[in-house]
Amino acid sequence: MRLVILENAEAVADFACNYFVEHLNKQPKSVLGLATGSSPVALYQRLIEANKRGDVSFKDVTSFNLDEYIGLSGDHTQSYRYFMNNKLFDHVDIDQARTHVPNGAAEDPNAECLRYEQAIQAAGGIDLQLLGIGVNGHIGFNEPLSSLASRTRVKTLTKSTIKANSRYFDTDEFQPTDAITTGIGTILDAKEVMLLATGPNKAEAVRGCVEGPVSASCPASALQMHQHAVVVVDEDAASLL
Ligand code: GLP
Repeated sequence: MRLVILENAEAVADFACNYFVEHLNKQPKSVLGLATGSSPVALYQRLIEANKRGDVSFKDVTSFNLDEYIGLSGDHTQSYRYFMNNKLFDHVDIDQARTHVPNGAAEDPNAECLRYEQAIQAAGGIDLQLLGIGVNGHIGFNEPLSSLASRTRVKTLTKSTIKANSRYFDTDEFQPTDAITTGIGTILDAKEVMLLATGPNKAEAVRGCVEGPVSASCPASALQMHQHAVVVVDEDAASLL
């Protein structure tokens, strides 16, 4: 695992953007694994600008997002499909038909998980997987005690995750308690992985990821077993290392 500690969140986004631009210029037909949450937003903004300048193209890119809430269809403003369209896909030259997010409104969520996992395999697997990290060390929605070999499946969210993500929902709005998430095994199969974390509230999780024992108690610690994982953090998120 490579650890990169940078001064602040801006520098983290710059580093990540350069990494993605370089990767896509080398491999324009790349299969990207993409993430939601606040952590990748500044990276997505920079990628939109780079795309407008002609420094990078998404024309031949295929993407698979990590996860989606169960009970929300893609046009719901809190769904991760909506987030991705809004924060990235609608603003770059990607072919929307090649962007994939699990269907949170599927009638049979378990069948949807199987279909999604198979679609990733059929696309040749993920070339570069982007990750944020939850305050409890989760990646995607792989909550603590997820099997390190897990594949795409339904997960019930922990109270701490529901609380952490409640900031995105209005007080009287329905907030899902279950999600479809690609597994830790699915994530570890990616050829390269980049995890971004900024801010002091991620310091404990980053410590578990980087220095902790490899354990299902901190799903992000599984990245220690990956040959090409880079963890990019700001000084606040690195403060407990
Ligand atoms: C959610 C997502 C994760 C994300 C995490 C952290 O739970 N499922 O993929 O990494 O939140 O989010 P944030 O970056 O907003 O702190």
